[in-house]
Amino acid sequence: MKDLFDRILENKGPLGKWASQAEGYFVFPKLEGPISNRMIFNGKEVITWSINDYLGLANHPEVRKVDAAAAAEYGSAYPMGARMMSGHTALHEKLQDELAAFVDKEAAYLLNFGYQGILSTIDTLVSKDDIIVYDVDSHACIIDGVRLHLGKRFTYKHNDIESLEKNLERATKMAEQTGGGILVISEGVFGMRGEQGKLKEICKLKEKFKFRLLVDDAHGFGTLGKTGAGAGEEQGVQDQIDVYFATFAKSMASTGAFIAGDKEIIEYLKYNMRSQMFAKSLQMQLVVGALKRLEMLKTMPELKAKLWENVNALQNGLRQRGFDIGTTQSCVTPVYLKGSIPEAMALVKDLRENHGIFCSIVVYPVIPKGLILLRMIPTSSHTLEDVEDTLIAFSAIRERLENGTYKRLSASVAAAMGE
Ligand SMILES: Cc1ncc(COP(=O)(O)O)c(C=O)c1O
Repeated sequence: MKDLFDRILENKGPLGKWASQAEGYFVFPKLEGPISNRMIFNGKEVITWSINDYLGLANHPEVRKVDAAAAAEYGSAYPMGARMMSGHTALHEKLQDELAAFVDKEAAYLLNFGYQGILSTIDTLVSKDDIIVYDVDSHACIIDGVRLHLGKRFTYKHNDIESLEKNLERATKMAEQTGGGILVISEGVFGMRGEQGKLKEICKLKEKFKFRLLVDDAHGFGTLGKTGAGAGEEQGVQDQIDVYFATFAKSMASTGAFIAGDKEIIEYLKYNMRSQMFAKSLQMQLVVGALKRLEMLKTMPELKAKLWENVNALQNGLRQRGFDIGTTQSCVTPVYLKGSIPEAMALVKDLRENHGIFCSIVVYPVIPKGLILLRMIPTSSHTLEDVEDTLIAFSAIRERLENGTYKRLSASVAAAMGE
């Protein structure tokens, strides 16, 4: 019989197998210094394009002041226990009420982490007789939530309404047999490519099919819509989103998350969601910090305006220089280049070491072989000078990619990888 660890030691997994070449540089890099548009990587200043601090709140002096005061007052332990037992406070309720009002829902409930929170929301919303229909490109937390489901599930092609419709027909037939209902799940903004979920078209299908809609708006909250209430507001269908989810990990520059919807549904989730019933409540310093951040989201529209000035400068600049930035409809800015993994590694090294640009790199198997995706997250703390420096650097690296410089530089790596 095999020892359980034999497989683990033999096969470190699709990413783990690259650890010796990638760790500390391409994965698990250490960005140092205050969170801002320019941070320190390997001892050198770099323009950071990989941090989801959309509104620049992470290191905002007012936020830092409130965070520090809350930590001094409450420490990091308070309150102890799960919400249901001993971890409930008036400030948790206040934050919920304010979040619900902000996203135009009757009620909201706090989640101590986005990932576990949405996973558990999915688990709680469906019984084994219900059917889940979800976008094939969903974030890992949605996929894991669906994994908990004991009944049927269907994926539809990414943002493809025809495919969704076909799957809704199948799901409807199945639900008629099981006696269950249907849950459709989409993201408000798909975080890799930046497309908005087609929420308007999805909601239109409610005229033909009977389903409830859960939207993960991690990247839309704070960045989209007139008031910043997200992709539903942007597309004019916020009232048709049955369960709205957003994390504090992006625009709110913190930790935690929430779900919002009709009072009775949120009440049901509050009493049945295992990840919150059996886990410690969101720490008070995070609750107090989130109240401050939400106030700033509401009262400082200039933060979102500056964010979009930077997004437009970066995306228009890239398009004008002939870069393929796909079909983004949000702040998420992907740049698609053609090249092998070793070329991508040489290119990113050049960007970081010689141009002082730090952005995330995505390669096969996350995207098709032969493509390199550089993913950039503009924030309101970037400057137009950062954008200009980055555009110049991108033109330079594209030239080197096309004239074979990176192929030559990475030849030994490519040989070792059998590329
Ligand atoms: C689309 C999406 N959903 C959920 C999460 C998980 O949120 P959290 O970081 O709060 O666990 C993330 C990542 O932050 C995300 O990008």
